[in-house]
Amino acid sequence: MTEEQRPIGCVFDAYGTLFNVAAATQRCRDALGPSADAFAALWRSKQLEYSWLRSLRGDYIDFWRVTGQSLDFALASFGIDDPALRSRLMELYFVLATYPEVSGVVQTLRAAGLKTAILSNGSPNMLTAAVQSGGLIGLFDAIISADAAGIFKPSPKVYDLAVERLRAPAERLWFVSSNYWDVSGAAAFGFRVVWVNRAGARRDPLPGVPEHEIASLEALPALIEDAGGAREPANPVD
Ligand code: LAC
Repeated sequence: MTEEQRPIGCVFDAYGTLFNVAAATQRCRDALGPSADAFAALWRSKQLEYSWLRSLRGDYIDFWRVTGQSLDFALASFGIDDPALRSRLMELYFVLATYPEVSGVVQTLRAAGLKTAILSNGSPNMLTAAVQSGGLIGLFDAIISADAAGIFKPSPKVYDLAVERLRAPAERLWFVSSNYWDVSGAAAFGFRVVWVNRAGARRDPLPGVPEHEIASLEALPALIEDAGGAREPANPVD
């Protein structure tokens, strides 16, 4: 292990990785009825689809508006015309539940000397609200929104934001995501990538493959330590 190979930081995707995207619909299951899971899946798939289309078309809008427009599509698809329910779902999405292992794992990585960051398509206000409601304030050296690039992941312009903000080469940054399209994009960019495959999903035939696949973030510190994780303490969060 040379010094140039030692990891400097760990960069996390947000939605699906740190925060549970199904949590909003789970809290409204009574109103959504037996199709709640299908509704949640359509909302998420349309949210991602619109982000990719907006990037390809060059007519970027922020992820909060994309989240609202994809929700409107899902509500119409299920024949739901309920403004109060729409507001409730958006309020809940703004402060999505954090997965239980997140805080402990991020603190362990920081104690081992790693910088930590979030790199997400989420709008800045969305990410701030989710971090605050999840009790994660002070655990990240940087909370980076694709909004700064005016395009969504998996555009390399977004991954490059983490290199700039953490002032580290891509190969010394580990990237963790639950979304395989994000995992493959980040690996093709040059990060060292871990797929936290929470859903037991199948890999897509895309260029760029993760070095590791784990079921939850709990396995992450040992992986990074085995790779020679940083030893000097991380800079205090600025
Ligand atoms: C994120 C979503 C797209 O970037 O997973 O956080």
